[in-house]
Formats: sequence, C-alpha cells, structure tokens
Amino acid sequence: MVSVIFPAAGQGKRMKAGINKVFLDLAGTPMLERTLRTFSSVSAVDELIVVTGAEEVKRLSAILAETPGLKPCRVVAGGSERQYSVRNGLDAVSAQNDIVLVHDAARPLVTPRTIEAVIAAARVHGAAVAAVPEKNTIKAVSQEGIVRSTPPRSSLWAVQTPQGFRRDLLLEANQKAEADGFLGTDDASLVERLGWPVHVVMSEYSNIKVTTPEDLLIAEAFLRQAQS
Ligand code: CTP
Ligand code: MG
Repeated sequence: MVSVIFPAAGQGKRMKAGINKVFLDLAGTPMLERTLRTFSSVSAVDELIVVTGAEEVKRLSAILAETPGLKPCRVVAGGSERQYSVRNGLDAVSAQNDIVLVHDAARPLVTPRTIEAVIAAARVHGAAVAAVPEKNTIKAVSQEGIVRSTPPRSSLWAVQTPQGFRRDLLLEANQKAEADGFLGTDDASLVERLGWPVHVVMSEYSNIKVTTPEDLLIAEAFLRQAQS
C-alpha cells in the first residue's frame, strides 16, 4: 500500500507572489490541486498526505474534502524546513502502508507514468528517485568563485520528485539526519547517508519545480502543449 507525502508548507519566497505558491492558479487550476489530481489518477496510490503551514491546515482540509476525484487525503502542519515537513508527514502515514513517496506540491506537471515507475522501483529496490540526464555542464565552484572541478556530464542526473522509499528506510534515514543535525535538500540524500543504494528512474524534462515567476510561464506552455 502506498502513501504520498506532499511538502507544501513553504513560503514561496522566490515566487514573490505574496502567498504560498502552491495555491497559485496554473491554467485555471491551483498548482496543489493539479498535483493531487494526477496522483489520485494512479491506481496504486492509496493515501495522500498534504503538509502545509499550521495556520492553513483547517482551511485546506475543508477545501480538499470538497474537491472531487481525490484519493483519501489528510492535511498536517509542516515545519520550518522541508525535511521537518516530510518528518511530520511521515508521522501521519497509515500503519499498513509500506511504501512512501515524497513529491513536492510545486511539481504539478508530473505524469502518471513517472509516478508508477517510481512506485515500482521503490518496491524492488527500497529507494528510487525520478530524474533526468543533466543537459548542462556542471562545475563545482569554491566560495571565492573559482572552478574546482568539472564532473563528467555523463555521470550527472538532475534529480526531481517523486522519490519513493520503503517506509521503514525513509523513517530511519530521516531520524538519523535529525539526530546528526544534517539537513538535506532532498529525501534521497538522507537515505544515501545510510549507505543504501538509491536507484534513478527516468522521468520527463517537463517535470519542473515551479520556483520563480518565469517557471509559471514555462509550466503553462507545457500544459498548453499537452492539451493540443
Ligand atoms: N516546503 C515545505 N516545508 C518547508 C519548506 C518547503 O513543505 N519548510 C515545500 C514547498 O511548499 C514546496 C517544496 O517543499 O512544495 C519545495 O520547496 P521550494 O520549492 O523551496 O518551495 P518554497 O520553500 O515554498 O519556496 P522558497 O524557497 O522560494 O521560499
Ligand atoms: Mg524553499
């Protein structure tokens, strides 16, 4: 059985919209709702757990309860960092669910195909992340702005969400990170610290994270193309 945790408790500062960006409209549908609808269309998904700001929990629970077409959905309060929001989401996962996906609410263009592939790989390998081969040349740069190294591009993948794990593995990784004072920018990095192999699953370049205002334009362009 599969639970999906949606971190949606950020402030969307880089979007500069004055509200949490996951509530912004994208081609007529709020970003968060679009994301939840896509996951609800995947038959293997059993439960949705949305993590949002403490002050939004009541209002959002009421809205989502009235939104047709969603799988069973719970709303819980987030933390000051994404990693803490995921931890709060993990606490709310139903006991019988052995696979947990984490998906940023701010990636509304994820496809059912990618979701299904991550679930399948997480079942087989314990840990799997959606990713695409990197198109840019990436350099490691020092604090002083001097290039230190150029990792070969053929070994670089741009990692996205969903990221899927055996629930016990993600719980252990999240607890160890917190005990060690380690703050990761994604959930797989916490599992990597356990020495557990994390598998990549080929995703789509269109699965962007909506972060800055121009990302809204890009996301709407992808949606127009999908509808035509
Ligand atoms: N997130 C969260 N809890 C936090 C911080 C972020 O649940 N304390 C969520 C965001 O709502 C988003 C996802 O994690 O869906 C990815 O984070 P990001 O794109 O950085 O969103 P924000 O933190 O909202 O944006 P910004 O960093 O520009 O303020
Ligand atoms: Mg952030």
